[in-house]
Amino acid sequence: MSLVLDKTFEQQLIAIRRHLHEYPELSHEEVETTASIRKWLTDANIRIANYPLRTGVIAEVGGFHEGPVIAIRADIDALPIHEETGLPFASRFPGKMHACGHDFHTAAILGTAFLLKEKEQELRGTVRFIFQPAEEKAKGAEQIIASGALENVEAIFGMHNKPDLPVGTVGIKGGAIMAAADGFIVEVEGRGSHAAVPEAGIDPIVISAHIVTALQSIVSRNVSALESAVVSVTRLNSGTAWNVIPDKALFDGTLRTFDERVRARVRQRFEKIVHSVADAFESNATVRWIEGPHPVINDDEWASVATQTAKSVGLTVIEPLPSPAGEDFAFYLKKTAGLFVFFGTSGPKEWHHPAFDVDERALLLAASFFTTLAQDALKRLNKEDLQIIEAVK
Ligand code: NI
Repeated sequence: MSLVLDKTFEQQLIAIRRHLHEYPELSHEEVETTASIRKWLTDANIRIANYPLRTGVIAEVGGFHEGPVIAIRADIDALPIHEETGLPFASRFPGKMHACGHDFHTAAILGTAFLLKEKEQELRGTVRFIFQPAEEKAKGAEQIIASGALENVEAIFGMHNKPDLPVGTVGIKGGAIMAAADGFIVEVEGRGSHAAVPEAGIDPIVISAHIVTALQSIVSRNVSALESAVVSVTRLNSGTAWNVIPDKALFDGTLRTFDERVRARVRQRFEKIVHSVADAFESNATVRWIEGPHPVINDDEWASVATQTAKSVGLTVIEPLPSPAGEDFAFYLKKTAGLFVFFGTSGPKEWHHPAFDVDERALLLAASFFTTLAQDALKRLNKEDLQIIEAVK
């Protein structure tokens, strides 16, 4: 792996990351980002695969020898956040920022493609690179799947940078690593009246207050101490004047769960509480769900393969706590086995903060890790390790 030690290669990845950082594009609008990724790949003689995508890029390395197809995914979109890092390569677009480090993911996975290109002749199989749009809207993975780009893929790998893990560490675990992130919008029907004559109306504010309070019992009374969930009401709107009882109230928020069974139970209790409390106050309420991604459930076997890979390239492996944030990588893992890891970037701030940043020393480490992981994964799928054991016998 001569290139890994090559400072110019590292500088190239840093330049790519900084370019992406300077010109962030929001979900579904990644037109220039897509063009840049295509150019970097084409300049490296890497073939672009043709799938019907408006934004995002699919590329492939390998395929000279028969073998399985594996995929590595990077998300490419930015957030509607105004950057406050003061960096010389800060966003040039007011109100848009790579505040989740998808610029880091894209640059590191491009680096992986460049490194694997050098070993292309040796690969017994194909590595498909998925540069996915619209992760922040949790829509891009489904678009990629609909385009057909996940077909034949036997294993898929991805990452999120992790500011609270130091550079040189990678968080790997089997099972749930990120949450299902469902949204809800509740509308409570009331009947307006003069504020001085409440008995003439049905007060949706009082009803909403009871519902919001009762919803807080779901986590404490319906979820086991050994499992977890979050129920957050984040907005409540009603009323127009101090002396008028309004005719409706609206509130919304999010549920986070790490297990489909817990998710179903929490949603069932949520609906029951909303409808029953509204009914008790002679009102009606409706619940509208904004279906979020499923929980990200890692494959145990790929977790142990990647642990070995990480150690072999000199990374420190830790078992991370799952994150209650959502991640649409979950849609891929519903279709095929795979692994999503947290990559240490020693960031000053958490995801989605206006002063978010990554330590760029992690770029080369991530490219090196995913390069070796792709090779190890193909070997495993080709059962090469078994052949070696048999040969020794
Ligand atoms: Ni992100």
